Amino acid sequence: MDKNQTIIKQYLRLIYTFWAKFYDNYVEPRWKFDRRKAIEFLQINTGDRILEIGVGTGLNLPFYPQDCTVIGIDISSAMLQKAKQKPHQAEITLQKIDGQHLPFPHNSFDKALATYALRVSPHPKKVLQELNRVVTKGGIFCIVDRFKGKSIISWLQNPFFFLIGGGWNYNINKLITGTSWTLVHDKPFGTKRNTRLIILRND
Ligand SMILES: C[S@@+](CC[C@H](N)C(=O)[O-])C[C@H]1O[C@@H](n2cnc3c(N)ncnc32)[C@H](O)[C@@H]1O
Repeated sequence: MDKNQTIIKQYLRLIYTFWAKFYDNYVEPRWKFDRRKAIEFLQINTGDRILEIGVGTGLNLPFYPQDCTVIGIDISSAMLQKAKQKPHQAEITLQKIDGQHLPFPHNSFDKALATYALRVSPHPKKVLQELNRVVTKGGIFCIVDRFKGKSIISWLQNPFFFLIGGGWNYNINKLITGTSWTLVHDKPFGTKRNTRLIILRND
């Protein structure tokens, strides 16, 4: 990993150690979307193995059905600590792992999910490449992200948003170029402007 990325990762850890205290009460109600519905898009079958990237405080965990196994990973111990307290029916394992360097063998998962996390990752393309390897062929990666608008005000807000740990806009078509992900769905999602639900299939 190059030096800049290591620095960004350390910075994110610091920021999310702070956010972990307020995330559920302050951040979640303001950037809300239907988490149950996002998980429905995964079309989970009995026995499916799911990888959730940037699981954060675990707000998605209560919505996984009971007959699947979920590994939730995050770079922030403070966020993971909060995730441990969330109720759940599925078999959940939480681990401190960087989505850009996955220590799992090929084809370890059937599906993957990242909500408000891909844009925060310092190198989102690396996450997609790693997921290409660990998700089985035909498996899907469901992404929910909020994109900043293209107005001058949004453009000026971008650096501030980045500094508070909100990440950076990406272009999904550019991001999947050179990977084996195919874009199968990219539509507005939820009530907040600029939130999109993107589904990729591993071909
Ligand atoms: C805005 S929070 C979203 C948390 C949760 N997914 C949600 O929907 O509430 C972003 C999370 O992504 C994590 N994150 C950022 N980059 C990551 C990476 N490369 N690998 C794993 N987790 C990462 C951060 O530590 C943080 O917990």
